[in-house]
Amino acid sequence: MSVAKPLPHDAASLHVAGTARYIDDVPMPADCLHLAFGLSTVARGRITALDLDAVRSAPGVIAVLTAGDLPFANDVSPSVHDEPLLSDGTVNYVGQPIFLVVARSHLAARAAARLGAVEIAEETPILTVDEALAEDSRFEGGPVVWSRGDVAAALSGAPRRLTGRLELGGQEHFYLEGQAALALPQEGGDMLVSSSTQHPTEIQHKVAEALGVPMHAVRVESRRMGGGFGGKESQGNALAVACAVAAQRTGKPCKMRYDRDDDMIITGKRHDFRIEYDVGFDESGRLHGVDFVQYARCGWSMDLSLPVADRAMLHADNAYLLPAMRVTSHRLKTNTQSATAYRGFGGPQGMVGIERVMDAVARDLGTDPAALRRLNFYRAAARTAGASGGDIDEAMKPGGRLPETDLASRGAVKVSSGTGRARAFGGAHSPAQEEAENATHYGMRVTDFILHEMTDALLASSDYAARKAAVAEWNAHNPLLKRGIAYSPVKFGISFTLTHLNQAGALVHVYQDGSVHLNHGGTEMGQGLFQKVAQVAAARFGIPLEMVKITATDTAKVPNTSATAASSGSDLNGMATRIACDTIRDRMAACLAELHQSDPSEVRFEDGQVIVGAQSMSFAEAAALVYQNRVSLSATGFYRTPKLSWDRVAGKGRPFLYFSYGAAVTEVVIDTLTGENRILRTDILHDCGASLNPALDTGQIEGAYVQGAGWLTTEELVWDDAGRLRTHAPSTYKIPACSDRPDIFNVSLFDGENREDTIYRSKAVGEPPFMLGISAWLALMDACAACGPDDPALNAPATAEEVLAAVGRARG
Ligand code: MTE
Ligand code: MOS
Repeated sequence: MSVAKPLPHDAASLHVAGTARYIDDVPMPADCLHLAFGLSTVARGRITALDLDAVRSAPGVIAVLTAGDLPFANDVSPSVHDEPLLSDGTVNYVGQPIFLVVARSHLAARAAARLGAVEIAEETPILTVDEALAEDSRFEGGPVVWSRGDVAAALSGAPRRLTGRLELGGQEHFYLEGQAALALPQEGGDMLVSSSTQHPTEIQHKVAEALGVPMHAVRVESRRMGGGFGGKESQGNALAVACAVAAQRTGKPCKMRYDRDDDMIITGKRHDFRIEYDVGFDESGRLHGVDFVQYARCGWSMDLSLPVADRAMLHADNAYLLPAMRVTSHRLKTNTQSATAYRGFGGPQGMVGIERVMDAVARDLGTDPAALRRLNFYRAAARTAGASGGDIDEAMKPGGRLPETDLASRGAVKVSSGTGRARAFGGAHSPAQEEAENATHYGMRVTDFILHEMTDALLASSDYAARKAAVAEWNAHNPLLKRGIAYSPVKFGISFTLTHLNQAGALVHVYQDGSVHLNHGGTEMGQGLFQKVAQVAAARFGIPLEMVKITATDTAKVPNTSATAASSGSDLNGMATRIACDTIRDRMAACLAELHQSDPSEVRFEDGQVIVGAQSMSFAEAAALVYQNRVSLSATGFYRTPKLSWDRVAGKGRPFLYFSYGAAVTEVVIDTLTGENRILRTDILHDCGASLNPALDTGQIEGAYVQGAGWLTTEELVWDDAGRLRTHAPSTYKIPACSDRPDIFNVSLFDGENREDTIYRSKAVGEPPFMLGISAWLALMDACAACGPDDPALNAPATAEEVLAAVGRARG
C-alpha cells in the first residue's frame, strides 16, 4: 500500500533540477505588464499632497493608480475590512502601499515607484508595547482573559512564588519564493489569477470584491509555493488584487512580485510578545498556579491577530496540568507591519512563556528541569484496549528512565496526594474525577497524553542524564566556553479554532485507462501535502502512485476551501480525498459485481488489480468496463472535522480534535567573551501518529526545528525610532544556514497511532515540531546560568549580544 511509505516529495527532482514552476516561471504573455507599489516612508500621518507626475512620465509606465481609481472595494483584509490596498489618506506604517505603478517591465515599475512626491503630515507613531498601552491602542475593547480555578488563592497559598518578564521577538517568514501573482483577463470581464498563496479561495473572494464581480467570475490557481510558513495565508491578497484591478483596467495580463526588501518591508511577520508571569509552587516542584499576561504587537491592521493571540493563550499550558491558571491577552495596535500567521500561529509564543516558568522554577529549587517538567505533566492517556491504545503500550520501552522521574511517571496521582495539587483538586480521586480534572485551562480534556512515554524514551536515547553530568563537568573546567543542555516537550492542538474552517473538499476523476486525476483544496508549499494525499488516493484504489496525477489547487474544481494552515492540510484533504475515492470505488464495485454475478463486498482493489470473485483484471480494464457500462468515474468528497465545540468568548470547550506531541533535547556551547554560540547536538522524538510518509514527516520535523531555533536565536527584527524596519534583507536578518543545523541531529518518529479517527490514524506535523526549537533557547539559558548564581533571564532572540547580556545577569 502506498501510505506509510517514506517516498520522496513528488516534485523533488523538479526542485533540485530547478524546473519546478513557480509564478515567476510561468511563461509570460508577450504584452504582460508589471506592477510595483509606491510605499509610505512615514509610520503614521495623513497624506496632504500627492504628486505623481514624475511617476507617470517615467520610462515604460502605462498607468498609475491611487485609492480613488479603485472602483469597488479598496480592501485586502482577511478579517475586518481595515486594510486598504492603497492608502485612503492615512498612513499607518513605513512600507504601506500608497500608489500602484503599472509598467512594461518589472524594473521600470520599481524605478518609477520611487519617484512619487508624497507629503505627509506626520503624527507620533505608536511603535512599542509600552507606547500602545499608554495610548490604549488595541484591537477588541480590552484584554481577553481566560482562566481556570482560583488563581489568586493558588498563588498566595503556594509555599514559593516567582515573578518575571520575557521579551520575545517576531520573525520574518523568509520563504525562498517571495510574494507573487499573475492575473490574466478573460472574456466578459472574468479573471484568471495565479497566486503564490496558501488560501486560493480568499484570493478569489478579495479579487471578486475588488472587481465588483461575483466569485464565479474569478478563478484562482496555485500549483505550489516556494514556502509559505503562514506568510501566504493573507499577505498575497494585495498582489493578487493589484494585478486583477490593473488587468481589468488595461485589458492586459498583469504580474507582480515583491523583491526581497519590499517583501520584508511591506508584509507582516510573526507577532512579537512580551510575557509577564507570576507562578506559585511548592518544594516538590509542583506548580499550584500561574498567572500570565501576554502582550502581542499586532501591527496596524487586524489581519489574523485575534486567532493568533487566541492560540497563544491556548498553548500557555503546553504539556502541563496547572490547577489554577489565568491568561490575559493584550492585542496591541501599533504603526508597524500587520503581524500575521507564522508556523505555530501564536502557539510558540504561548509555549515559550510556560517553558520559561518551568526553567525558573527548576533553577529556584535546584532540581533537574526535565524531571520538574515531567512531574507537572498532564496525566497519561488511559491505556484502553483498542486500535490506538494497544500500540502505545507496545511502543513503550522499559528501562532507561531517569530514576527520579520514574516514580512520578508511574504513580502521578499517588505522589501528588497531600501536595498543593491534591488540595487544589479537593483530595479524593475517582477515575472519572481524575479524567475530568485532566483538562486544560480552557476545559478540554486531555485524553491522548503520551509525553510520559515519549520523554522516557527520548531521555534514554539521548543519554540525557549522563550528558547533563558531562556538561557540568565541562563547565567546571572551562572558564570561557560554557555548555548547556535542555529538554522541552510540545503538546500542540490540531484544528482551526474558528470551527467552521475545519472542512475540506476533493475532486477525483478516474479515466478510461485507469489513470487518476486528483484535486483537493489544499495547497503545496514544500511540506509534501500533495504527495501524502496522492498516497491516500493510490491506496484507496490499490494502484501504483504513478497512476495518480497531482494537480494545481483550483477554485473552479474545489470551491470554498480553507487556507492550508493550522497543520491540518493532510487531515482535512486526505479525508475528503478518501471519501471521493471510496465513492468511485463503491460504484465500480457495484458495477463489476453485477457483471460477474458477485457481491460488491467481495470486490477487492489491490496491487493494481481489481478482483471480483474468481476474476481478476487490471485497474485499467476495470475502469474501461465501468465506463462502458455508463457508470460515473468522477466524484467529489467532503469532510468536516467531528467533535469540535468552542466558545471563544467564554474561552471554554473543545477547540481541537486531538494533540500532536514531541520532545527534544538540545546541547549548545557559548563563548562567554563574545556571546557567540552553536548547537552541538539535538535529539528529537516526535509523534506523527501512524505517519502517512515518514520521509516527508522527518523532513518537516528537521526543518521546523531549525526554523524554531532560528526564531529564538539569530533572527532579529529591528525597527528604529521612526518605525523603519532596519533588518530587511539577508545582509541584516540572519536565518539559519545549513551550517547552523545541529552537528548531531537525531530525529525519530514515535511509534503510535492517532486515537482519533484521522486519515490512516496519522497526525498533523507541519507546525508542532517548530516548537521543539524552544529546547535550543533553554539550552542557551542553561549555558548562561553556568556563569553565575543569578537567573540569566534570557530574552529571545538569544543573539550573541543577548547571550552576553544574560551571562552578565547570571554573574549578578
Ligand atoms: N513546510 C515547508 N516546506 N514550507 C512551508 O511553507 N509551512 C508550515 C508547515 N510546513 C511550510 C511547511 C505551516 S505554517 C503549516 S500551517 C503547514 O506546513 C501547512 O501544511 P500542512 O497543513 O499540509 O501541514
Ligand atoms: Mo500555518 S502558520 O497555520 O500557515
